[in-house]
Amino acid sequence: MKKETDIALEFNEFSKNYTNDMIRCVPCYLELVSSFGKHFPEDFNPNSILDLGSGNGNITAQLIPYFPDATFTLVDASTEMIDLCRKQFKNYNVNYANTYFNDFSFKKDHYDLIVAGFSLHHCNKKEKRAIFENIYSSLKIGGIFSYCDLMISKTNPDHPQLLEQWGQFVNSNFPDGEKWAWVMEHYKNYDKPTDYLLQKEWLENAGFTNIRIPYRDGYWMYLQTRK
Ligand SMILES: C[S@@+](CC[C@H](N)C(=O)[O-])C[C@H]1O[C@@H](n2cnc3c(N)ncnc32)[C@H](O)[C@@H]1O
Repeated sequence: MKKETDIALEFNEFSKNYTNDMIRCVPCYLELVSSFGKHFPEDFNPNSILDLGSGNGNITAQLIPYFPDATFTLVDASTEMIDLCRKQFKNYNVNYANTYFNDFSFKKDHYDLIVAGFSLHHCNKKEKRAIFENIYSSLKIGGIFSYCDLMISKTNPDHPQLLEQWGQFVNSNFPDGEKWAWVMEHYKNYDKPTDYLLQKEWLENAGFTNIRIPYRDGYWMYLQTRK
């Protein structure tokens, strides 16, 4: 059984070639990441933005051209990932929290925008429900929460087919099969994806209404909702 602290170590290692690996291991990674800059209401101009599980900064990097004067807070358990962000964003207003979500102190009614790219599937069901409540409470009225993730549980009847198609995608980029074996090892140890409908129910329980999916490719989805 892997411990929570292992996530930070796993992503310290993964940080070395992160973006290239994600592009070639996650179907439509770039489309999902670029969705973060595309689907906001025209009059939306956030001052305060929280990026949960920022990794090396790919989601924040999408937002900065639109909102260069905003204050960003980046949370990630991996020190190496946070260090990559520190180098990349040194000319912007960025605060860092090198910590687990469970230990992060969510300020009440504070953020205009909270984002999470491919990070919430590392949380178990109880943690996801708690984090949705923290996110709701931490947003200002009118604030937006958007995140992208794989939204299918490992027990969903469609899951074997998802793995089949995902494997074909990874093996088309890495034909020797070693990368797919690594992806499946990581998936077994660190990933706890949840069905979209269950996440929708938990978001609604937390207080969110008007949940939208502006972009999806099968079970790889980008979701947006507003407080
Ligand atoms: C797959 S990466 C996603 C990075 C980036 N957001 C993106 O879209 O490419 C997941 C990141 O979330 C972080 N992470 C996972 N679980 C976490 C937790 N419980 N608390 C804090 N960070 C976590 C990992 O360290 C990793 O950097």
